[in-house]
Amino acid sequence: MSADGKLSTRERRQVVISGVQDFNRVDRLKAGSDAVMVGIGTVLADDPSLTVKAEECRNNRIRRGTNEQPIRIVVDSMARIPPNASVLQKGTGQRIVAVSKQADAEKVAQLRKLATVIEAGADRVDLESLMDELGEMGIQRVLVEGGGTLIAGLIAAGLIDEIYTFIGNIVIGGKDAPTLADGEGFSLESEFCRLTLIEVHKLEQGVLLHWAVDHST
Ligand SMILES: NC(=O)c1ccc[n+]([C@@H]2O[C@H](COP(=O)([O-])OP(=O)(O)OC[C@H]3O[C@@H](n4cnc5c(N)ncnc54)[C@H](OP(=O)(O)O)[C@@H]3O)[C@@H](O)[C@H]2O)c1
Repeated sequence: MSADGKLSTRERRQVVISGVQDFNRVDRLKAGSDAVMVGIGTVLADDPSLTVKAEECRNNRIRRGTNEQPIRIVVDSMARIPPNASVLQKGTGQRIVAVSKQADAEKVAQLRKLATVIEAGADRVDLESLMDELGEMGIQRVLVEGGGTLIAGLIAAGLIDEIYTFIGNIVIGGKDAPTLADGEGFSLESEFCRLTLIEVHKLEQGVLLHWAVDHST
């Protein structure tokens, strides 16, 4: 995020906020995860491939007996993901698209040719059921790369264990620019997501904060 807590511009245009060291850190985190997850908003705005880039990291995964790429998961209630999305087309390994019962049957049938489709939730993806299903598939460690709407949903459902925030040296501004946790927000103090600070690390021209989510309240 930027120094003022924004993930992108108010037009939802992708912005380079961090440098090569932070990029490599995220690449290593990805490589250490069973799966990488994003919301459909991020796929439509940024078209990320979510692949692990460093050859050494990919080789380490193969040596551990896993696919060179973590499983890539898109949360997409209405199956809006374009078939040519980079996340479906680039790199090897399994893709999962989570949809709701409202998703168009024809779109879902097409999608099944490119990805494993999990149906969870009536009109929006039920994140708790999705996580249960992923757990049953042996997926234990999921790295969520955004955006703010999905992260807010996961926090509200109590499904996040740790948060890394890299805060870079730019101000993006704009009251409508995405932030780490968008969605509806919490109004009661009892609903706030409480964090414990694990580590602070200066990285290039920014700071990396590592938080644990306090599930006790
Ligand atoms: N700086 C960074 O590191 C970074 C990382 C990622 C993204 N971004 C930026 O973030 C922006 C995209 O974020 P976004 O908030 O628009 O999209 P998002 O969080 O990627 O995706 C949100 C969408 O997920 C779907 N969804 C389905 N079930 C959900 C549930 N239970 N809870 C929450 N969401 C659910 C919804 O669409 P449906 O109802 O259609 O399913 C929702 O609109 C872009 O501007 C991108 O550049 C920045």
